[in-house]
Amino acid sequence: MTDDGWDAELVESTLRHAVPQLAYLIPDFHNPTGLLMPDDTRARVLRAAHRCGTWLVVDETLTDLALDVPAPLPCAAHAAPGASAQVITVGSMSKSHWGGLRVGWLRAPSRLVTELAAQRVAHDLGGPVVDQLLALYFLEGARASVPERVARLRERRDALTGALAAHLPQWTWRQPPGGLSLWVDLGAPVAAALAERALDYGVRIEGGASFAADPGVFEQRLRLPFTAAPDVLREAVRRLAAALADDRPVPSAAHRPRWIV
Ligand SMILES: Cc1ncc(COP(=O)(O)O)c(C=O)c1O
Repeated sequence: MTDDGWDAELVESTLRHAVPQLAYLIPDFHNPTGLLMPDDTRARVLRAAHRCGTWLVVDETLTDLALDVPAPLPCAAHAAPGASAQVITVGSMSKSHWGGLRVGWLRAPSRLVTELAAQRVAHDLGGPVVDQLLALYFLEGARASVPERVARLRERRDALTGALAAHLPQWTWRQPPGGLSLWVDLGAPVAAALAERALDYGVRIEGGASFAADPGVFEQRLRLPFTAAPDVLREAVRRLAAALADDRPVPSAAHRPRWIV
């Protein structure tokens, strides 16, 4: 993953050189960039992982949140015959349905599922029953509830981009075809200072560096989720613009009163 897209060659060479036992991918509406991995890249990554004997954990938590495109096929469907044995697909209902519903799922070769289920019993005995009943209730009505959530997210994304265009026209972003957030380019490496200052204005956001493996990377990026109601998003953008214009020195995290955070 680079700042503005998928780098299949880099993935292939990294797999070839590091030969990891396991690699983690979010190909659908990637958090935080919102990018959707093209089909040919999926096939290349699956092929490269298969060649190196690397297991792929493919996170499809955001797959159903397809705002402008049809929901993508499962990533494992792009594997060559026989190669799909190396893929573990995981997901969660917390994004497609409701943030408090921490019920997840996984799809993997049946022997592995049996082994993982046995491991789980040793750790926490199983998922909470009421949450699972709620998950079942949502899944039975899935055809109605997911499109409703997608329509609401589209409206919220429009509210956020409209407010940004009005109050922070110097910021740029690529419209994400799905998912939950905008990956905004601030034009200068000020994300950490802005995120810190924004706390004074009652807005908590994540600077891009929180999502980078290497220090200093993505310091000019901000992840702005569009999960809140349109009015809340518009007000948040007004406050972000005020925080950006505020040139008082930013207090270090150590000096910030605990109750604000
Ligand atoms: C792609 C992706 N997978 C998994 C999760 C975590 O899901 P949960 O809240 O169910 O632990 C997140 C949360 O942001 C996410 O963006």
